[in-house]
Amino acid sequence: MCGIFGYLGKKDPLPICLSGLKQLEYRGYDSSGIAGLSGGKIHSCKEVGKIVGLEKKLSLAPMRLDLAIGHTRWATHGKPTNSNAHPHFDMDTSIALVHNGIIENYDILRDLLKKEGVQFTSETDTEVIAQLIAKCYKGNLLAAVQQALPQLRGSFALALIHKDHPDEIIATARECPLCIGFDDQNTETIVSSDPNAFLSSTPNVIFLRNNEIAQIKRNQTDFFHLDRRILTKKSERIDSEFKVLSKEGFEHYMLKEIYEQPATVQKALLGRLDDENASILLDLQIPEEKLHRLRNIWILGCGTSAHAGWLGTLLFEDLVRLPSTMEIASEARYRNPILTNDTLVVAISQSGETADTIAAMREAKRRGSSILGLCNVKNSALSREADSTLYLNAGPEISVCSTKAFTSQITVITLFALYLARLKGMSESQMRYYSSELKKVPAQIQQVIEQASLLQTIAKKYAEYDDFFFMGRRYMLPTAMEAALKLKEISYVNANGCPAGELKHGPIALINERFPVVAFCSNIQTHEKIASNLMEVKARGAPILAFAPEGMESIAAIADDVFWLPPAIDPLAPFASTIAGQLFAYYIAKERGCDIDQPRNLAKSVTVE
Ligand code: AGP
Repeated sequence: MCGIFGYLGKKDPLPICLSGLKQLEYRGYDSSGIAGLSGGKIHSCKEVGKIVGLEKKLSLAPMRLDLAIGHTRWATHGKPTNSNAHPHFDMDTSIALVHNGIIENYDILRDLLKKEGVQFTSETDTEVIAQLIAKCYKGNLLAAVQQALPQLRGSFALALIHKDHPDEIIATARECPLCIGFDDQNTETIVSSDPNAFLSSTPNVIFLRNNEIAQIKRNQTDFFHLDRRILTKKSERIDSEFKVLSKEGFEHYMLKEIYEQPATVQKALLGRLDDENASILLDLQIPEEKLHRLRNIWILGCGTSAHAGWLGTLLFEDLVRLPSTMEIASEARYRNPILTNDTLVVAISQSGETADTIAAMREAKRRGSSILGLCNVKNSALSREADSTLYLNAGPEISVCSTKAFTSQITVITLFALYLARLKGMSESQMRYYSSELKKVPAQIQQVIEQASLLQTIAKKYAEYDDFFFMGRRYMLPTAMEAALKLKEISYVNANGCPAGELKHGPIALINERFPVVAFCSNIQTHEKIASNLMEVKARGAPILAFAPEGMESIAAIADDVFWLPPAIDPLAPFASTIAGQLFAYYIAKERGCDIDQPRNLAKSVTVE
């Protein structure tokens, strides 16, 4: 996934592009670059690493441009080097182009172009697009693009310029997000992967659909289909919740976002617990009679969102007695699923832009299923295409490592499970019970946060290890998987989630005194079982850290270290346990000197397969 941005208007495009790229940095930060036109020539600047590096390089050699396109990269083809950084050019630098997506037949096209004498300077699929359009160019840039695109297999969002067209940006997309923003006076036009990168200045937005092309000129933009049909596109006005992002005194966005969770869980609950009527209030655009008929739920997600969906399956089983499965979206999109009219598909995505989740959702929609989205970003692809969206209301999550979004996701999916349970006959008294237990969660989270320094002390002791098992049972298994993912992605430690009962079927062979086990024990129903599992690994020398509810003394007798958690009912135990896991991972990564908010090789939103 990458971020692309372009500006054509009356202002200096350089600072606007830099600012836009910073808003898109969550999409990748392996390298960045800007190209623009002035004096009938293309000028460009690229830099490996984050945008701050590009900004520094530009300050030493500023460019005066009439228009510009920019790019921040998450490497798919070719290492993060200057030569592979976007923008990419044709051989005589007539064309500059930026791209998000993957061209699956780029190698075939590159070989064909090489046979015609084209020389390449990068390893990227993107350069092939620039060279192909140059080959098709006979003076009309739009026509060249329309001729080149059908030859590409795969996904793309593109913005490109040509030195012979000093007042024109061409933008087009297939399976990747791209939108065009206009100010009210129509004096400036912005193209971006994400509308949230420009809403403060150009709130009138047009989203490009597959194979649509925008020919952006000064004071006028025309839209065409790939087959050259002229398109009429209506803009929609999107008011920006834009606010300057800040760490507010925290060392990292991740820590700030961990500390926000009592409030963000509260916000996810706000207005949705109707105590007077013992019911859940959700703004669902799915007919109640359809929900009454439901036979099963198919939950789609990736990474942390998949873990939230996994917890959802346990909640639907326990509270609603409704069969459901969590499907890793990158797998689900290529299965042959048994979806009926009585299946509800729940697509979970913090960003609402994850390519695998969007593609799986589209496939389910094509098969006739209704889609409920759980999402944190308004105007995202997910929120635009789902039949109904329940928003997390968690506010922007900047750290690549998802924290507050996860606890808001499980809050919302718990509310949805209770909504369905009530629909299917859960008693008022039971609903009041769960509602009162849910209201305790923010305080439970706060209680863990107040012991952050103790978690930091424990983390320092475990920061030396390079391998871990994280284990749990029932609601603690997805919790353990999520905690392992946190540690893995921000500290590059080999942290493996594993069902506690499964270790003895193979993984226990790895256990030794250099292979700690972190056990999430807050599942009352299975606490004796996990105590036995801990004895099994203790017998093989594993250092043991247990996250256990206050009073579970049986665990204290076995573990080397125990972090006591506030007691909670099994279905809601993941909340406090998750906070402990997040802080444990954070302090280990800090101890190991890792780049916590923007870990290597990752990006906040994975918009490629
Ligand atoms: C979580 O910490 C990771 N950044 C990653 O697994 C993430 O959850 C996944 O890419 C899904 O993102 P989404 O929720 O925006 O779809």
